[in-house]
Amino acid sequence: MHEYSDKVIRHFKNPKNVGTIEDASGVGEIGDPTCGDFLRVFIKVEGDVVIDVKYQIRGCPAAISCASAMTELAIGKGLDDAMMLTEDDIVTALDGLPEFKLHCSALGAAGLQKAIIDYFERYVHGKKT
Ligand code: FES
Repeated sequence: MHEYSDKVIRHFKNPKNVGTIEDASGVGEIGDPTCGDFLRVFIKVEGDVVIDVKYQIRGCPAAISCASAMTELAIGKGLDDAMMLTEDDIVTALDGLPEFKLHCSALGAAGLQKAIIDYFERYVHGKKT
């Protein structure tokens, strides 16, 4: 696959769920040192369900599309299922990515996982205040 799918282009032109969550249950930050792209993910959890996901990003078009798709996949999922969301799930939801852009899906998946871990550390393990 050499070109961007229609879904990638749609998400890039109209990214979903961009922004912050003021009273976020968890926040995850992840950067890619090779390209300098950066993603910050905010999640809101109620019970065991991720009820909202938002993000700030400085990234390439593929990373933006992946972050947008990640929010759509994660919102409404239980914490366990959201934690298991993979880069492949994101790429599949976008109908694929060009080979040389596959790594851009890593930010979305890892940012979400870090936000969930932050939630567990804050509220479940009580490590943070
Ligand atoms: Fe850095 Fe796409 S080039 S995430």
